Amino acid sequence: MNKSSVTKLECFPLLAKMTLGLEQQLQDLEKNIKFVHSPDLASSVHWTPSETFPVHRWFRYREGFSPYLLDYFSDSRCRLDPFCGCGTTLLESAKQGVQSYGIDLNPLATFVAQVKTRSYSGTEKTQFGRLARESLNTYQKLPASPKPPYALLDKLFQPDSLETLLKLNTFISSVEHPRVRDLMLLAWLDIIERSSNVFKEGNGLKYRNKRRRPGKYLTIPDYEWIPRYFGDSVTGFIERLWATKCKQILDDIEGFRLPDGCTPYIRTGSCLEPQNLDFGVQFDLAIFSPPYANRFDYFEAFKMEMWMGRFVTAPDQMAALRSKSMRNNLAAKKFGPGNKWQTLLPFLDAMDCDASSVRMGIKNALQGYFADTRTLLANLKPFLKHGAKVVIVMGNSAYARSIIPSDVLVARIGIEEGYNVDQVKIARKLHVSSQQRASLRNLSNYMRESVVVLECN
Ligand SMILES: C[S@@+](CC[C@H](N)C(=O)[O-])C[C@H]1O[C@@H](n2cnc3c(N)ncnc32)[C@H](O)[C@@H]1O
Repeated sequence: MNKSSVTKLECFPLLAKMTLGLEQQLQDLEKNIKFVHSPDLASSVHWTPSETFPVHRWFRYREGFSPYLLDYFSDSRCRLDPFCGCGTTLLESAKQGVQSYGIDLNPLATFVAQVKTRSYSGTEKTQFGRLARESLNTYQKLPASPKPPYALLDKLFQPDSLETLLKLNTFISSVEHPRVRDLMLLAWLDIIERSSNVFKEGNGLKYRNKRRRPGKYLTIPDYEWIPRYFGDSVTGFIERLWATKCKQILDDIEGFRLPDGCTPYIRTGSCLEPQNLDFGVQFDLAIFSPPYANRFDYFEAFKMEMWMGRFVTAPDQMAALRSKSMRNNLAAKKFGPGNKWQTLLPFLDAMDCDASSVRMGIKNALQGYFADTRTLLANLKPFLKHGAKVVIVMGNSAYARSIIPSDVLVARIGIEEGYNVDQVKIARKLHVSSQQRASLRNLSNYMRESVVVLECN
């Protein structure tokens, strides 16, 4: 047999597999994995319910899951959330009297999580209420705090918005008691988006004065959109936001006390670095929702709050955070010449090469994304008790006429890293755009949000 025929034969199974339709690939991948339709979990995998829960609602983090999720895993006693975001797992665990540990790369997120999971004394509550009232009477006379060195701030805010926010910030900085100051800073961070010219949507920020029309954006003139959004006074609008937010926080801390002794340990850093998983304990539950493989860039979406709150003070700090982020977006660090994961290839090969996402490098990002998932699952094992559960909230995605079935791919990585797959609970269907719906035809059922439950042997 000559060399080329050997190569062809070796390649044949792979070539044959690639010619199978995507649906067949998906069915093969799902073999021997237990899927359970769990519509009862639908309200657990997204943020909306958190808007109505005391304390959870202090800072809008619409990428979070809801506190309901923790009810399903309440028998665990030592929990880790390695992508803790604004602290849903940590706060809910503290409420249940369970010790928990959290990690997040974004210092804004860990600040929010920390402030939400403290137990406030009567004196702190009284001080917060008094200072919140006093702030409105005095802040106008204060100088504005220095403008953060972010070039786009003048585009993101009306001059009056920026000035009002920066004067309130001066007041907050003057508060002596650190925990009361943090509460006020959290309130201030939460009103930044609504005080600005933009809102978070899709993969980033959208200007309030732009309307999407077929094939173009329409710009609404300032004299129309500013009074419509802010009313007759921009400053008055922000003062009302501030007063309402402070009142909400005060109401919540007045009616709420966390049990003693369960304050979570929170670390700012990347959970992909093994030393960050080491809290000197072993967990019986790791529960998390990593960034989905959907190109969402957390640092872009929260850049206003990060700059305004001085969680970053120079562009290279933002770049450093992005470079450590889970590789779910095109701004993240590139996947190097490392081994490509064969199981993922059919879904990448099925992509339309002319699609903009492919030209911009989505295939590379996805290889990085699943390599990062593997790194985490491998690094996590020594810190898990025998029989511990790993619960991963995961959303599938679609690109360039192909589907990325992240839930089952993560389950497969789990198996390759020595976990058992307990089950994949399908919580709800995900919306696909009408364009994608046409090109994905029979596959739209695979667009779903699931809870993957692994078990550590
Ligand atoms: C879907 S959100 C988690 C939200 C969280 N479950 C909650 O309810 O608030 C994903 C989080 O992963 C964080 N993240 C991204 N890359 C990370 C990394 N390498 N290490 C730790 N956290 C990271 C992001 O900052 C974001 O807060």
